[in-house]
Amino acid sequence: MEEKKDLNLSLQNLKAKALSDLEKIKDQVALDNWKTVYLNRSSEIMQIFKEIPLANPEERPRIGQNANIVKAELETQFESARERIKQAALTQNLTQDRVDVTLPGRIPERGRLHIASQTLQEIYRILAEMGFQVYRSREVESDEYNFELLNIPAHHPARDLWDTFYTTKESVILRTHTSPGQIHAMHEFAPEPVRIILPGMVYRYEQMDASHEIQFNQVELLAVGENITFGDLRGTLEEFVKRMFGSGVETRLRPSYFPFTEPSAEMDMQCIACQGKGCNVCSGTGWLEILGCGMVHPVVLKNGGYDPQRFSGFAAGLGPERISMLRYGIDDIRNFWANDVRFLQQF
Ligand code: PHE
Repeated sequence: MEEKKDLNLSLQNLKAKALSDLEKIKDQVALDNWKTVYLNRSSEIMQIFKEIPLANPEERPRIGQNANIVKAELETQFESARERIKQAALTQNLTQDRVDVTLPGRIPERGRLHIASQTLQEIYRILAEMGFQVYRSREVESDEYNFELLNIPAHHPARDLWDTFYTTKESVILRTHTSPGQIHAMHEFAPEPVRIILPGMVYRYEQMDASHEIQFNQVELLAVGENITFGDLRGTLEEFVKRMFGSGVETRLRPSYFPFTEPSAEMDMQCIACQGKGCNVCSGTGWLEILGCGMVHPVVLKNGGYDPQRFSGFAAGLGPERISMLRYGIDDIRNFWANDVRFLQQF
């Protein structure tokens, strides 16, 4: 007679082995393996189910019941092992990857405005308080606006004052100063009075050195109206210099020449490095040249659309980079556009 396998005993052994294996499991991979071995379709428990029909008929119900109980038990224990491993992994994460909140933080790098923008903004603020509005004008200009309408005809020797970047297209140039903006603004506002500043980049075809750049900012002032006098020019510029550099700073006007103003002048301020005593910043003179200015030439007023019999005006042009250099003791203008952060970070 064929020896019958004792399926109940097999079930008992299987359960004992499976549960003891499960107890030792510490990670997800081993757990997945355990499930494959003990619960998938070719596992021992499934094998036993298949063998039930071969057992003695009177024993089959009990074996079947037993097998179901063992299978359910393995599944329950698998679930709780899975929960146990998940918790263990979490605890490990929390203890090992713990953030020490008492460590000092890393200070993030902060951006800043370029030194030139900072100075420009201060100029805008001061002149806004004095009643001047910002007026934007183009950087690419025509010969007509940059020169002719400003009373500088072709071949006029004064053209040599501005070394110009020409383009391949005839009479299209990069503006050499902000003064052409005067004409654009007058065309827009005439015959209303004007009180504006024209800031922006200008370009010159220069040999670069410590005091010459091929591009730099200018801020142009323009006031046009009835009864505007040279006294208004002087008072406005003196007040600007005092607000920019301090109320104790002395200024002086020297006669000069520009084709678009008459009379023309240049303003000097007391050297801020030596308070006027004379040093190498001011070449021993005690004075620093800071801007060009004058009363708007009648021809320019007319070109702008104003009747020079009724209207008068003053204009000035200053260099913000030069102002920054004086204030901070910067000795090379090329630093401004070289984009070396070691320079830029200082402001
Ligand atoms: N445009 C002149 C320059 O660039 C400066 C200036 C402006 C002078 C306005 C007088 C009046 O040199």
